[in-house]
Order: sequence, then C-alpha cells, then structure tokens
Amino acid sequence: MPDARILGIESSCDETGAAVVRSGEKILSNVVFSQIATHQPYGGVVPELASREHLRAIVPVVRKALADSGQTYRTLDALAVTQGPGLAGALLVGISYAKGLAFALEKPLIAVNHLEGHIHAVLLEERQKGNHEVNFPVLALVVSGGHTHLYLAEQKEEGWSYRNIGHTRDDAAGEAFDKVAKLLGLGYPGGPILDRLATHGDPTEVKFGTAQIKHRDRKDRNEPDDGLPRFDFSYSGIKTAVLRHVETHNLKAAIEERRRALATIEKPSLEDYLAACDPKTLNLVASFQRAIVEDLVEKTLAAARAYDVATVFVTGGVAANHQLRQRFEHSAAQDGLPVFFPSRLLSTDNAAMIAAAAYPKWLSKDFAAADFSAEASLPLRRL
Ligand code: KG4
Ligand code: ZN
Repeated sequence: MPDARILGIESSCDETGAAVVRSGEKILSNVVFSQIATHQPYGGVVPELASREHLRAIVPVVRKALADSGQTYRTLDALAVTQGPGLAGALLVGISYAKGLAFALEKPLIAVNHLEGHIHAVLLEERQKGNHEVNFPVLALVVSGGHTHLYLAEQKEEGWSYRNIGHTRDDAAGEAFDKVAKLLGLGYPGGPILDRLATHGDPTEVKFGTAQIKHRDRKDRNEPDDGLPRFDFSYSGIKTAVLRHVETHNLKAAIEERRRALATIEKPSLEDYLAACDPKTLNLVASFQRAIVEDLVEKTLAAARAYDVATVFVTGGVAANHQLRQRFEHSAAQDGLPVFFPSRLLSTDNAAMIAAAAYPKWLSKDFAAADFSAEASLPLRRL
C-alpha cells in the first residue's frame, strides 16, 4: 500500500491536538494541549472559553507537531481535521486553520468524524505493536465525556463503515464521572480522579443499579427498525442516586469542606485527595465506579454475543479507566473474545487518531469539499 504522511488536527472539545502519522500505523509526532486548567474553576467545559483557547493554541501546537515529526510542510501528503461531533465553535477553529493550510500548501484535506478517530486509535495502537491482524466483525465501544456508543465496524473496499447498535439515552459515562466528581467536591475532570480514588474504597458498600432499557429510543423513530437487538445505556439515574445518597447520609457539609480544602491546592496529588476524603466518600466513589463499569462491560459483551463479533474495541476517554480495562479483559477472556484498547494517551482526545482514520480515506481519495463545515452532531456512516 502506498505510504502517506498525514498531519491531523483535532479541536472538537477541550484539547487542541496536532499529530503526524505515517500510513495509519506509525506516530511520528503527537502534540496535545489540554485546556483543563482553563475550565477547572467552572467544573466543566465552557464552550466559549474552549474556542478562545483553541485559537491561542492551534498555531504553536501544529508547528510543534510538524517539528517533532521531522517532516516539513512540503513532505506531507495530506491534512486531516475533525469535522464533528463536538462543540461547533471549537471545531471551526481547527477546520478553518486546516482549510487555510491545505489551500496554501495545495495538499488534499480530509474531514474525519471524531468517533471514527477514537475507533482508529485502537487500530493505530495495534499496528504500532506490529499486530496487523484484526478479525471482523468488530464491535467498538466508544465511551467518553460526550459519547457512549456501540458500533459494528467493518472494513470495505471503499473504506470503513459503521452501524450503531446502542447509545446512551441521557448522560455519557464520562459525563457521569465528571458530574459525580463535581457533586462530591472533587474537581474536574472527574474520571481520572475517581479512577484513582476508587481503589481505596469498598465497592460493595453502596448498592447502585443502572437502567436496563427495553424499549426503542423515540429519537430513533426516523431510523428503519430492522428488528435487530439494541443495547442502549443510561447514566443520569445513577448520578441522581449519588445525590440522594449524599442528602440522606448528611455528606453535604463534608463536601463543602473538601471543595474549599482542594481549591487551595494548585495541583492536588492523590495524597491530597485521600486526605480530603473520609472512608464513606471513598466507598461511595468505589461503588459508583463499579456500577458504571459493570454496566458498560455487561452490555458490551451481551451485544458482542448477540452479533457474534470476533473482536471488541474499547476506546474514548473512559477507556483509560483501570477497572474498566481489567473487567473487560477478565470477562472477554471468559468468552474467548479478544479485546483491544488504545494506550491511555490515545484513549483521550488526540490528533494522531484523526490522522490514522484519514489514511483509508486518503487511499480512496475521499477528500473534503472546499465548502465543508463543522457539524456538531455529525453521525457515523451506517452500513
Ligand atoms: O475522549 P475524551 O478525551 O473527550 C471526549 O470526546 O469526551 O474523554 C473525556 C472523558 C471525561 O469525561 C473524563 O472524565 C473521562 O473521559 N475520563 C475517564 C478517565 N480518564 C478520562 N473516566 C474514567 N476513568 C478515567 N481514568
Ligand atoms: Zn473524544
């Protein structure tokens, strides 16, 4: 297959990323500028601030990615950029910059779906390790701050195609981590903090259930009902259950104290978090994480059995979670199913995955039209 060096640009949420990847299999550079410090005081991503930070970061981030890769603008074969889904203003920064650069360099520009990028992060990881053998069909769980989606992914001659067989009806799993961490006065983003604290609590202490969804989503009514099973998720109920637990167990005063104590520390360490948490809180965190992890693993593996897939991919920010990885590896092994994750660096938002997903499109000359624009709710193509 012909070689291609593709410069990827990612700006869909709160990370400005640029990376150069060779032929979807070798990372030549991967630069991520995180905006966490900007959004931290607000306990979540502020869209206007995200756009402004992308504007500030995009030029130095792209320049560094190019310098780190040992390439020059002339030696690049194509540029790729995230078209959506994501925050419209944030996406526009990356798209406008990529368009300008591609036009000036007279190089093709490839528009990439962010979710497709997360799926290709797994393939990139495997190819970097020398594994070029992935058996199909593949079931991909994309689980992040904005998404909890299950896709059947297939490689066809003209490129990749995807069919959604499950999504969250309300909050995404990462969103639930973030909201619960905020609720408990632990700061933002919640996932990595709860991940580290959960090992210090008893996950059997608080009983949480997660929603078992039987009926078709009304939002899907425009989609053809092919009668095939769906595996939807729902995580807003568990967040409310945590809130109720806080109220009924009088934890509010302790939470306020924790919030104030942690606000005085610039970059709290695990020891700082542990010092600010009593055993009751650690048990609550461990029980919450376990409920989410069990639900993600059970539904994904039930879908894998129903669709008789050969391989499972788990990707997106929440795929960085230690317990989720362990539980998937353990349970999938019992079913004799290979399960692949990206490294933690490639699990959260980055541009290497965008450049990797662009390679099959480059091969099939699937280039973006000059007038393409950001699509905040861009869906992944159906089979
Ligand atoms: O993929 P990503 O960087 O951005 C989106 O596309 O949303 O995912 C960010 C999400 C956040 O909700 C964050 O709390 C969560 O991933 N996350 C984690 C972990 N690391 C990041 N959730 C659980 N455990 C982690 N270790
Ligand atoms: Zn993402």
